[in-house]
Amino acid sequence: MASQRTRQTLLVGSLLAAIGVMTTLVCYSVTLYRLFCAATGANGTTQRAAAAPGAAGGRLVTVAFDTNIAPGLPWRFRPEQRSVRLPLGQDTVVFFSAENLSDQDIVGHATFNVTPAKAGIYFKKIQCFCFTEERLGAHQKVEMPVDFFVDPRLATDPGTADVQDITLSYTFFRSRAPGQPTDLARFASAPPDPVAGGKIFAAQCAGCHALDVARVGPPLRGVVGRRAGSVAHFPYSAALARSDLVWSEASLDRWLAGPAAFLPGALMPANLPDPAARRDVIAWLRQARPPAPPAPVPPGGRT
Ligand code: HEC
Repeated sequence: MASQRTRQTLLVGSLLAAIGVMTTLVCYSVTLYRLFCAATGANGTTQRAAAAPGAAGGRLVTVAFDTNIAPGLPWRFRPEQRSVRLPLGQDTVVFFSAENLSDQDIVGHATFNVTPAKAGIYFKKIQCFCFTEERLGAHQKVEMPVDFFVDPRLATDPGTADVQDITLSYTFFRSRAPGQPTDLARFASAPPDPVAGGKIFAAQCAGCHALDVARVGPPLRGVVGRRAGSVAHFPYSAALARSDLVWSEASLDRWLAGPAAFLPGALMPANLPDPAARRDVIAWLRQARPPAPPAPVPPGGRT
């Protein structure tokens, strides 16, 4: 009898201990993630010094993106591109959008994981919104960049040499007791500025594009709303010619962020990683209306 009571006490005791351990783990999981982040060098500025080594050897990997929202956080959060295919070592910028659907400012924090897990140490972030607490204003929407590369050592490590596909998933949680959050407003869009867009076009696009004549690239007047790959006689890539796409601000934005990532096989060897610059250029292209028809020639010809 006595021994049965002892056993029950022991059982209850060990259950309580297990619950204690689990609660501690849950409470500290963000901290653990942060420690992991620091240990693997995946967090922010530490990697800036060890910037991307540059494309190495032409070996390609596909990185897919996945986003989740923990219950209790009224945000929308999604990747702006489903995946990118990139050479090992090449610095790449991708974007995620977050929108606060509620009437109050909310602080959240993101955790991430990489699958297969063994590839995690070769996934290097140069800039990221991860692991800082982030405040998003009521109904605010932002686009957040993640600047990363996959370390070429992925291909030489026998444990990971076979890895071709990597998935990066983020989960945003609501912060119950925010410390000192940074403001996601730093990624919010200023209204697009077509005048600035014209300057960016002159500096970064005009070497290959004009509004009305084909150069290395097709003429771009009226491109917003135009079918992609549709300028007669221009030698488009099959990817663009057969894309079945009508250029909108959203699709132009993704094209300009990374043409080959958006349409694999596309042949535009340029991109604009800065979202504000893309918005400005698109605003400028949008206002570049079709040219006015020539003034009618009066009967009898001009004098
Ligand atoms: C080094 C040359 C080069 C530069 C610089 C360049 N482009 Fe292009 N662009 C091209 C080529 C080539 C194509 C056709 C690609 C294909 O067929 O896959 C193209 C296609 C496009 C298209 C698709 C047009 C259509 O008819 O479907 C758009 C839009 C575009 N470029 C915008 C821009 C903008 C805006 C910039 C500046 C930020 C820019 N490009 C910079 C070469 C360039």
